[in-house]
Amino acid sequence: MMKAKLGIYIHIPFCWKKCDYCDFLSFSKMELADQYLIALINEIKASKYKDYIIDTIYFGGGTPSAIPSEYVRKIFIALRESFDLSNLNEVSIEVNPGTLTKEKLEEYFDIGINRVSIGVQSFDSNMLKRLGRIHTKEKVYDTIDLIRKAGFENYSLDLMYGLPEDSLERIVSDLSEAIALKPKHISIYGLIIEEGTKFEKDYAAGKLILPTDEDLLLMRHHINQNLLIAGYKRYEISNYCQPGFESRHNLIYWHNEDYLGFGLGSTSKIDNCRYRNTQVLEEYIDIENDLAQYDLVEIDDNMAMEDGIILGLRLSKGLDLIDFATRYNIDIREKYREAISELEQLKLISLEDDQLRLTENGFDVANYCMVKFLS
Ligand SMILES: C[S@@+](CC[C@H](N)C(=O)[O-])C[C@H]1O[C@@H](n2cnc3c(N)ncnc32)[C@H](O)[C@@H]1O
Ligand code: SF4
Repeated sequence: MMKAKLGIYIHIPFCWKKCDYCDFLSFSKMELADQYLIALINEIKASKYKDYIIDTIYFGGGTPSAIPSEYVRKIFIALRESFDLSNLNEVSIEVNPGTLTKEKLEEYFDIGINRVSIGVQSFDSNMLKRLGRIHTKEKVYDTIDLIRKAGFENYSLDLMYGLPEDSLERIVSDLSEAIALKPKHISIYGLIIEEGTKFEKDYAAGKLILPTDEDLLLMRHHINQNLLIAGYKRYEISNYCQPGFESRHNLIYWHNEDYLGFGLGSTSKIDNCRYRNTQVLEEYIDIENDLAQYDLVEIDDNMAMEDGIILGLRLSKGLDLIDFATRYNIDIREKYREAISELEQLKLISLEDDQLRLTENGFDVANYCMVKFLS
């Protein structure tokens, strides 16, 4: 029997400094990186899912570039010793411009990493400071120069909008700088005020002036139009790429396919089950060979189908209803007749040629649309 394909996610929960808006599972406790590496490699080696062909590997975080590059190499070696990596198509790493050197990038290239995702956020040094980032605009340009010189052709920029005291002018300027660099991929996220962050406290204290909903709508439309004119394709709500440069790894999630996650708080989805590792760093480091510290959810048919809809609607191409019927044994047209008709009348969804997809207006209110498909 042919072996099935999988993506692997590796979580590196360290950042040199927490940004003021971010609630990702990451800590500035760099002194624990050595112990973390040991626990992570143990977890990889103990995996019971080794009989798969690995299609993609994604080093995410936190900030994978915050730890020494030789640790990344050691993790990669553990993966190579445990899994069949002979058909790898994409190996990505998330990096923060404030943490990179020429040597680190050369080592990534040497290991076989072929895609770099750069947390730029903005090309405005004042805004970067406002966000609590550790880097400046100049550092972003230096980093991209180093990335190119190290041999990487495929890199992606993360940008943010809807920031404190944000303006359309700042976004126009950020976008033109981003486009001029011709990255293969751009992710652009609207700021979310997350619980427990400095921004949440500042917001509650009335110290953050955020754009209105109307401003946000204008910003989103501007972003979309400019990126389309520049030749980028919007293939997911927040993701744009040059033709053929979608993030293969993230497509695994949006297609509701199987993946393994290693590291603190990582999720795996495999054999109709979802596993989630502990989110407590000290507990994870303590685990070593005892891998009992995870939550397990069995994915029933209804959960699988709802996940398939919610994830698939994030994609511009939406859901292929014929494929969907084969995979989940459900006729979406029939089951969600009312929801689809209501959203069609509002011009938020379109159903053409057996393809159900959110419109551009639908993407603006994606959560409103998606809940219509949840039980
Ligand atoms: C793991 S980080 C990327 C790598 C690296 N840690 C860095 O920040 O440079 C993932 C991305 O999520 C986005 N992000 C984080 N917190 C966010 C928030 N509260 N609202 C919107 N986007 C956020 C940022 O664009 C960030 O680059
Ligand atoms: S945005 Fe990136 S660098 Fe900043 S705290 Fe979050 S994960 Fe760390």
